[in-house]
Amino acid sequence: MSQTRIESMMDEKRLFEPPAEGRETAWVKSMEEYEALYKRSMEDNEGFWAERAGTLIDWFTPFTKVLEADMDTPSIKWFQDGTLNVAYNCVDRHIANGRRNKAAIIWQGEPDEDVKVYTYQMLYDQVCRFANVLKAQGVGKGDRVALYMPMIPELAVAMLACVRIGAVHSIVFAGFSAVSLQNRVQDCEAKVLVTADAVLRAGRTIPLKKNADEALRECPSVTRVVVVNRANANVDWVEGRDLWWHEQMKAPGISGHCPCEPMEAEAPLFILYTSGSTGKPKGVVHTTGGYLTYTAHTTQWVFDLKDSDVYWCTADVGWITGHSYIVYGPLALGGTTLMFEGVPSYPGPDRFWQVVEKFRVNIFYTAPTVIRSLMREGSEWTRKHDLSSLRLLGSVGEPINPEAWMWYHEHIGGSALPIVDTWWQTETGGIMISALPFATPLKPGSATRPLPGVDARIVRPDGTDAQPNEGGHLIIRKPWPGMLRGVFGDPARYKSTYFERFPGAYEAGDGARVDSDGYFWIMGRLDDVINVSGHRMGTAEIESALVSHPSVAEAAVVGMPHAIKGEAIYAYVTLSADVEETEELRAELRTWVRKEIGPIASPEVLQFADGLPKTRSGKIMRRILRKIAGGSTSDFGDTSTLADPGVIADLIEGRVDLT
Ligand code: WT7
Repeated sequence: MSQTRIESMMDEKRLFEPPAEGRETAWVKSMEEYEALYKRSMEDNEGFWAERAGTLIDWFTPFTKVLEADMDTPSIKWFQDGTLNVAYNCVDRHIANGRRNKAAIIWQGEPDEDVKVYTYQMLYDQVCRFANVLKAQGVGKGDRVALYMPMIPELAVAMLACVRIGAVHSIVFAGFSAVSLQNRVQDCEAKVLVTADAVLRAGRTIPLKKNADEALRECPSVTRVVVVNRANANVDWVEGRDLWWHEQMKAPGISGHCPCEPMEAEAPLFILYTSGSTGKPKGVVHTTGGYLTYTAHTTQWVFDLKDSDVYWCTADVGWITGHSYIVYGPLALGGTTLMFEGVPSYPGPDRFWQVVEKFRVNIFYTAPTVIRSLMREGSEWTRKHDLSSLRLLGSVGEPINPEAWMWYHEHIGGSALPIVDTWWQTETGGIMISALPFATPLKPGSATRPLPGVDARIVRPDGTDAQPNEGGHLIIRKPWPGMLRGVFGDPARYKSTYFERFPGAYEAGDGARVDSDGYFWIMGRLDDVINVSGHRMGTAEIESALVSHPSVAEAAVVGMPHAIKGEAIYAYVTLSADVEETEELRAELRTWVRKEIGPIASPEVLQFADGLPKTRSGKIMRRILRKIAGGSTSDFGDTSTLADPGVIADLIEGRVDLT
């Protein structure tokens, strides 16, 4: 993130007290209560979590052992002798407990007239049917099922169907390319792929099955493809492999009942790939009992979710935010979750506010990049709609700059609503650092305090504790139920990425500081990962996509500050000998990256460079590239180890300005 933004946050002195209205009925009512909960959770960590897991989750076999953990090996086991089923907790139990006719999922499609509401009873029927469809195709406990789908209710149904029978889903965001899908499916060796004919996006129909077909050319593990008809788009059909969702759901022998497989607490629940600092995405593994406890717990306390609420998280289910806070957390609590297929800007920049008004949304959770882009459109769009149903706002994905925070607060929150700025990661499973909406006084730009149970610290590179206001590495000392349990198929990477540098602790990869009030200020990634519109991109991944093009000799990718996206991708490319630097090639390379990874990875800026700043030992000095991308022309620090100091001037001269 840019220096000016960090500095503006350093000066942030405003404090917003939690609203009085809502306090009385809130799950956590005051800072005193928070402090007491926090203290208790640190002194009797296992007792605290045992109580949460016992209160929030229905266990088939209750656990007797709370935790067995060794953060060095690492080996983490929560509630290990308990058994449960996530679909039972998210669906079945609510039918028995009086929520049978309550809306579980309200789905708003991109066209405003496309609305579907699934009561818990209806969801039960659909989940059971699809579970039976999967079983009929030979899917069983432990098998992987890849889901490459738009934001349609069938995606939530497919997830719950997998977990009902003990299959492990791996969702691939529908914006990823065929190549990315292929890599992920190959890595987890999925047996079945569920997809759709097409995706509706901003009024266009974008083929999806076409990408799946392309990806599956080299995925021998996949024997069946189930296709949802979303858009009546033309599709190619592979006889014997492809099946229509709507036909299978009604097929003879597919009943609306299916028993829930009792699962061990530590059985894998899902795999979700995320970018790291090396080229290959990591398959983050989450497990059953701990993950569900953690998402239910955080949904209840951070979003103060009540039975009467309409709750809307605007993320895509293809990311962890959607897994935890569209599907598992809210449904575990028997809540009503709104699932939205569209985009914020179509048909107009008031689409979100129109949907809030339409369904009288009470809790709204979105990303800073969305706030910034809507802020730019002007506040008149927000005034066109009645937003008075809202009682709580949330933010996730990147630090929210105070300007965006204030706009969100004033124009969406009517200067009255709490904003929970939630820090967490794919790996943490759920929210780790956040305000409790009716307890914590807010400072714009700060994620505030760690949640009860979360032992977050800032340490220096040598592992010693940082002083107040001293920036350092964000680590978590005690295990928590939602933490990842592995990197699929790569235990060595699991250990080396998260548990090696600071022995006995989980390393988040973020830089942060804690102020003298104990508030956390996240400063951004410390590794070669950039955060574009709240999405994590590995620079190495983009570089390897670029160098796979025949005209490219070398590439270096860094993040640059961007007013809306937070960070944008800036690529320096050295071409092979005799290849000419043309605008056509520049456009081609950007298209190439879109095809290799997906549109979100396409470089904002692509600069042709004759040489890159390397040390005499051949290491690229990214620090310099980041500075040039950010517009600096001086103050490059110590450049004495550069093999050819002249490259700096050439790079500055060739810098591409965004206009
Ligand atoms: C990275 C994790 C967690 C769901 C979305 C992203 C950054 C996330 C915040 C926040 C500052 C944040 C961090 C983190 N991040 N939330 N509230 N304030 N930074 O999940 O793709 O796993 O990315 O997003 O840098 O490490 P992810």
